[in-house]
Amino acid sequence: MRLSKPNIQLNSQGKLRHFLTLEGLKAHHLTEILDVADSFIDPETGDIRKQDTLHGKAIMNLFFEASTRTLTTFEIAEKRLSADVVNLNIATSSTKKGETLLDTLWNLEAMMADMFVVRHNESGAAHFIANHVAPHVHVVNAGDGQHAHPTQAMLDMLTIRKHKNDIFDLKVAIIGDIQHSRVVRSQIQALSILEAREIRIIGPATLMPSHPEALGVHVYNDIKEGLDNVDVIINVRLQNERMKSALLPSEKEFFNLYGLTNERLAYAKPDAIVMHPGPVNRGVEIDSEVADGPQSVILEQVTYGIAVRMAVIQILFNNAKALAAGESK
Ligand code: NCD
Repeated sequence: MRLSKPNIQLNSQGKLRHFLTLEGLKAHHLTEILDVADSFIDPETGDIRKQDTLHGKAIMNLFFEASTRTLTTFEIAEKRLSADVVNLNIATSSTKKGETLLDTLWNLEAMMADMFVVRHNESGAAHFIANHVAPHVHVVNAGDGQHAHPTQAMLDMLTIRKHKNDIFDLKVAIIGDIQHSRVVRSQIQALSILEAREIRIIGPATLMPSHPEALGVHVYNDIKEGLDNVDVIINVRLQNERMKSALLPSEKEFFNLYGLTNERLAYAKPDAIVMHPGPVNRGVEIDSEVADGPQSVILEQVTYGIAVRMAVIQILFNNAKALAAGESK
């Protein structure tokens, strides 16, 4: 599938109409999402309060690929904004009877959908849908192939900001299967847009993208050097389902060379935080002692996912309102 220009996600006022990728966005787009997300979190209790804003709006979650955290937190976020929520079960839908994606889409639009949240195993699927929806319908990418997972990257930025304040000062190391991870692509874009001091990627050469320099990152094949003095460690799993051939001798070998253990965590700053988008494969990319240890913020990431997804959804609807108000003047 061809990836269309990322700026189809911006409206004529330069504001987000869809949320498909972080590529091409400016720091103010990202900080607005983080600020709005933060405003939903009660500073005393950490609770995420219900809002009254999206009464009468219908949001449809179209997940063509498995998901635990992303689908559930989108659903909670939509309900906390008071929208009507439909989860389309693709396994039992008519796409299984030969209906094309576009026919499915147009039928859902006829049911008065206002937003589609899309996860698909093909890169470019969310862009494709965004190119074909009616003008009032918004599309949010919940992960497409190896391409992008922008809401995950934004919830990671919120988690970092909550613990470390200014992303600008930080050295961030991402370890694991860099090449096949849509999460890492979006994280690198977010960290670059927010001007993190240093972005490192750590892993075996077989799991690195072909031109890492173009991403503005520092590449390390040695975990000890890569983790030296970093503020944030992001661990990602081996995306075995995306590897076309065996790129590693074994999972055990990977753990021996790159698994995040307490001993290796000690190379980073003493107050470094450990993150992981999930699903976690214990004993493959991370030791249980680290995943469950005091520096781990893995479950906080999940909770912040609700606030970030609420923020993205609300901003898209607000931008459409502001645009309509501007046009009717
Ligand atoms: C990721 C995904 O599906 O891209 N998980 C998530 O959304 N939290 C990461 C993965 O599958 O490894």
